[in-house]
Amino acid sequence: MMIKEIADKYIMKTYSRFSKTFIKGEGVYLFDENGNKYLDFTAGIAVNALGYGNKNVIDAACNQMNKLFHTSNLYYTEPMTELAQKLVNKSCFDKVFFANSGAEANEAAFKLARKYGFLKKEHICSNYGAGDARRVCTCSKIISMKNSFHGRTLATLTLTGQSKYQKGFSPLVSDILYAEFNNLKSVESLIDNTVCAIFVEPIQGEGGLLPANADFLKGLREICDKYGILLIFDEVQTGIGRTGELFCYQNYGVEPDVLTLAKGLGGGLPIGACLAKDFVAECFNPGDHASTFGGNPVACACSNAVLDEITDMNLLLKIKENGCHLMEKLTSLKCPNIQDVRGVGLMIGVEFDIEVKDVIQKCLDRGLLIIGAGKNVLRFVPPLIISKYEIDKGISILEEVLSAL
Ligand SMILES: Cc1ncc(COP(=O)(O)O)c(C=O)c1O
Repeated sequence: MMIKEIADKYIMKTYSRFSKTFIKGEGVYLFDENGNKYLDFTAGIAVNALGYGNKNVIDAACNQMNKLFHTSNLYYTEPMTELAQKLVNKSCFDKVFFANSGAEANEAAFKLARKYGFLKKEHICSNYGAGDARRVCTCSKIISMKNSFHGRTLATLTLTGQSKYQKGFSPLVSDILYAEFNNLKSVESLIDNTVCAIFVEPIQGEGGLLPANADFLKGLREICDKYGILLIFDEVQTGIGRTGELFCYQNYGVEPDVLTLAKGLGGGLPIGACLAKDFVAECFNPGDHASTFGGNPVACACSNAVLDEITDMNLLLKIKENGCHLMEKLTSLKCPNIQDVRGVGLMIGVEFDIEVKDVIQKCLDRGLLIIGAGKNVLRFVPPLIISKYEIDKGISILEEVLSAL
């Protein structure tokens, strides 16, 4: 039996997979079981930041495997400590909580926000007396954006402002409100003293690759400052160099209070992180949140290697340069079905007036891997090490496919 047949027999059908089995990766290429080579514009959905087979990442993993590959969070370990220090030194945050995925990083941020709201309410009650306590009976509401994506656990599924993901899983988590993305008035209309946090992706990824306007994020910061509400950026997809800055918030000059990471952080190993400023981080006490595998030594050792390579090798400059090159190539595509090309760095979406699933399949047949973001958007999130030559190679395959539409 082929791998596909065995997998379909034994694995739950939560994914619609392409009929391809990959067995090897090198640089920005993947190889299937028949030895066919594919240029990868997907990077495992914005994960393989340094592509496949990066020597420093492999060495970091092997060395750490030989030394220690798991101990509990009852003890300290070196790779996790080093990674937390690096993330803090390179960002505006003070503390890190480690998880294993994007949804878990967001779940941590969600609980942190709820705890912050709980303590805020207690503070108001103890300082202002029973009258105010009655007015502030809860401070648990979280505002999320319509069309957002934050994960598949029940809390993050509820934060995800797209009903197609939520259907069949009610009752969802309570006290989540949805505002229009890029619409400050819509956010303001939901604000009162029962709201503890606003969750937002600086660029909506799964929702169709829609960047936030700078004024929108600045406005959210002002609202949060005015009302003592936490601003939380989900940078699971945009973080770790994807947009040409280590964190996407640096493109906007707007600092959130909490930020979540996963995907590119481990370069392919499962890891997530929730970063927070001290005044928020201190809301968590021992026992408030935990993860058996969070901060795994091998995953953290790989993350350290990824961060070193991104920051030491001038990779961010290259990402900006190659992102501009990809953007130019995509904007000059002559296809009447293209409605819009948008994005930042190596995170670009091309919106069509038709569904893109045939385009994706035809590219795959010609040796180019691309993914969609919603039904009408092609998403370009290649490994961050991609060269101009490889970009041109992929674009010429895409041109061939589009010319036959
Ligand atoms: C912005 C964002 N948040 C959260 C997630 C969930 O991450 P994970 O699949 O690692 O749980 C994703 C995944 O696509 C994402 O794009």
